[in-house]
Amino acid sequence: MTLERTTPVAHLASRIPPSFTLGVAAAAFQIEGALADGGRGPSGWDAFVEKPGAIEAGASPAVACDHYNRLPEDVALLQDLGVDSYRFSLSWPRIQPDGRGPVNQAGLDFYDRLIDSLLAAGITPMATLYHWDTPLPLEHRGGWLNRETAKRFGDYAYAAGARFGDRVSQWVTLNEPLSVAFNGYAFGVHAPGRALLFDALPAIHHQLLAHGLGVQALRAASVVGGIGLTNFHAPIEPASNTRRDRLVAHVYDLAMNRMYADPVLLGRYPRLPLWAQPWLRAKARITDADLQTIHQPLDFYGLNYYFPVKVAMGRGQELRRTDPHHAMSRLPFRTVDYPELARTGFGWPVAPDHLGTVLGQLRDRYGAALPPVYITEGGASFPEPDSVSAPLRDAERQQYLADHLGSALAAVAPGGVAEGVDLRGYYVWTLMDNFEWAAGYTQRFGLVHVDFATQARTPKQSYYWFRDLIRSREP
Ligand code: BGC
Repeated sequence: MTLERTTPVAHLASRIPPSFTLGVAAAAFQIEGALADGGRGPSGWDAFVEKPGAIEAGASPAVACDHYNRLPEDVALLQDLGVDSYRFSLSWPRIQPDGRGPVNQAGLDFYDRLIDSLLAAGITPMATLYHWDTPLPLEHRGGWLNRETAKRFGDYAYAAGARFGDRVSQWVTLNEPLSVAFNGYAFGVHAPGRALLFDALPAIHHQLLAHGLGVQALRAASVVGGIGLTNFHAPIEPASNTRRDRLVAHVYDLAMNRMYADPVLLGRYPRLPLWAQPWLRAKARITDADLQTIHQPLDFYGLNYYFPVKVAMGRGQELRRTDPHHAMSRLPFRTVDYPELARTGFGWPVAPDHLGTVLGQLRDRYGAALPPVYITEGGASFPEPDSVSAPLRDAERQQYLADHLGSALAAVAPGGVAEGVDLRGYYVWTLMDNFEWAAGYTQRFGLVHVDFATQARTPKQSYYWFRDLIRSREP
């Protein structure tokens, strides 16, 4: 098939170092469906989607991409794409329905089949233990506000490690603790729908504790693969050079970036200003032993980058509920647009250079404490039809991916803004259109179009572009 291309593949391919990983990423709850099949228990998200108005157009994740029943077809798509690696998540409530106690054999068997078919297709499995689907019984006991959840996570990590540890190449403990703490507990736009603002801060500590206990459990299970975690990072800019805006940018940077990376990589929390009183109270219960647990040696650091953030002092206007910054409208500061930049379907500014900025910040902040880095997610949604009869001409997505990968490679190259960072790979978010959390099915991020009425999968042009890129690399 001859396809229109907007980006010269050969040039980009020639800049990709040998042994650099090209992959795609996905998450269980967004694709699997089959929420009541095979002994899976409910998650906090299963309950949250029932809340009126929680999900755009009242969309249901019950079927999603029906990946649970279409595993062979989806692995064939991955194989044809030719990715080196596939990052997927294990559903905690599919493996351990109550979040404690016995494991569910059918759930384990499903992931056995996934891992074995990936390996048979020559694709390296990267498994995320937690991509936001907390077992509902744990959510009922406070979820991440309850320290006990961290211990339960350690047990689950051990069970997963014991079963899959001989075949998984890389383990990600948690995906974006920031998003769970902010969207789920501070602002209530994601499960479990709590709007606690600063009282949500213990949810950060308990997730990080879970990360540390998870690393220890995986090591105790003697997994052969590397272990890391994935954090969301965004460079934060003040809207102006005033002292007030710079102060807000500083605070926002602490809350969005450093609260998750500092304890994991340096073994301490950043010093927070007085606005964080509830955190300071919670902090009284944080022990040195906790920080030691959180500060585990890691084999890699996962970075999810989507957009930069600009902030100003003063309340913003009420934003759309599915807007990731909706919650900020209740705070005395606001995010500000980048009028000069293009936007994705979600309205996110397209800023590939800022990916280099983030990598440079990680190097400057963590130096030798920063392990090798994988960009574990990057991608964009654009308005696309519900059904198609031919590959979608998604030139914007190709450009987005080419520019972001190119920017990351330039940043870590000699003389680049992040020279010295050991960047090992880039995972596109995502293989196929899926259940985009509170946005339901309205935001399509996939390289493969999914018609949710028929479950037909139709690769987009970006899929063929990425396949060409993968094939065009130096052997
Ligand atoms: C999450 C994905 C999500 C993507 C796009 C990331 O922060 O890890 O689950 O689909 O953003 O919103």
